[in-house]
Amino acid sequence: MERLEAVKSECLGCRRCPLAETRTNVVFGYGDASSPLMFIGEAPGATEDATGLPFTGRAGKLLDSMLASVGLDRSEVYIANTIKCRPPNNRDPLPEEQSACLPWLKAQLEIIRPAMIVCLGRISAMRFIKPDFRITSEHGQWFEKDGYRIMAIYHPAALLRDPSKRGDTFEDLRRIEIEYRRMRGAAGTAGETEGKG
Ligand code: URA
Repeated sequence: MERLEAVKSECLGCRRCPLAETRTNVVFGYGDASSPLMFIGEAPGATEDATGLPFTGRAGKLLDSMLASVGLDRSEVYIANTIKCRPPNNRDPLPEEQSACLPWLKAQLEIIRPAMIVCLGRISAMRFIKPDFRITSEHGQWFEKDGYRIMAIYHPAALLRDPSKRGDTFEDLRRIEIEYRRMRGAAGTAGETEGKG
């Protein structure tokens, strides 16, 4: 995935918004760039800022164990965020920071072309599905947009705050996993692990 590597190395030097002043690392994205499944979270937190990798803190550990509960591993999917640098004190990303950062994610999407996108949480769903997305009533539903099948599930940080939502998320992930296996089977690429980026 040379094109993805080229975008990544340009992105690592990004100074398009003031978050460049306060970040430690750009959190570009990680995983199998040939996977049909891409997860898009919100924004890096303190651990991700330190490691440069998405979902490596407490929410990331929960994401990993929820993926494992449906037989998926993060190495089989691609994971990115709506913005690539940590907002100070974990505040919500500002609309202008999201707009400045979006071209990077769009470039990733154009190169990876996942068949399915899973938005982790409301902020990502509002950006990629529709501005008035309601996570409590619309999580787990497939939407079609720009040639992608898109679903939103609860953000793992929300599941840490409210474990009673984990059952719903398990059901949503089961449906995602079934679709993922179907697509991997159809593409004849089961087990492929190349293209990490
Ligand atoms: N929360 C997110 O939305 N993304 C991360 O990478 C980590 C925590």
